[in-house]
Amino acid sequence: MLIAIDQVLSLDEVRQFRQVLDAAEWEDGLNTAGTLARAVKRNQQLPDGCDTAVQLGQHILRRLAAHPLFISAALPSKIYPPKFNRYTGGGTYGAHVDSAVMQIPGTQLTLRSDLSATLFLAEPDEYDGGELEIEGPFGVQTVKLAAGDMVLYPSSSLHRVTPVTRGARIASFFWIESLVTDDGERTLLFDLDQAIQELTPSTDADDPRLLKLSGIYHNLLRRWART
Ligand code: NI
Repeated sequence: MLIAIDQVLSLDEVRQFRQVLDAAEWEDGLNTAGTLARAVKRNQQLPDGCDTAVQLGQHILRRLAAHPLFISAALPSKIYPPKFNRYTGGGTYGAHVDSAVMQIPGTQLTLRSDLSATLFLAEPDEYDGGELEIEGPFGVQTVKLAAGDMVLYPSSSLHRVTPVTRGARIASFFWIESLVTDDGERTLLFDLDQAIQELTPSTDADDPRLLKLSGIYHNLLRRWART
């Protein structure tokens, strides 16, 4: 499932992020590229663990923790500390699949990447190109969202960022280990949860049909969750 989550950050928050990011020291993205990625990665990143990345990343994580649509879609058990990248002057990232297992920086913990997230921090009219192209069962989907919006997609997908031919594409990106590894199972839970949420305002809270649906949701989650 590919899902866009609107306004993870408000326009005010994006403005504050950009004041910091536009003045930040970026480094070559090749510094953190694996052997295969070196051939296709042309971008810049904030150094892992620098104050700017840590502070902005923690702000994003606080917003996500309070975002019902994100929780419902991702069912997160671990989130990688958000990273930041910048594509400019023809910068691009050719087709690749993200690493499956990652070490969380500064810890001995590992994270299995079930979902990949990109939070856009530049408006679409600030740059040409820079589309995120994700291959899925129904072909390639092209994603270029408003600043503050985020896309979630299965980390198993082949994806690329097309060359940025004008301006700069600035984004945060990170990975999520989900309680439910399988994308099909997680999508069913999300659809069921959203249907229950849509019924709730027009249904009595103790309506037995609503209680039954809610019970099915939790019993499927119990069956599929790995904690
Ligand atoms: Ni990637």
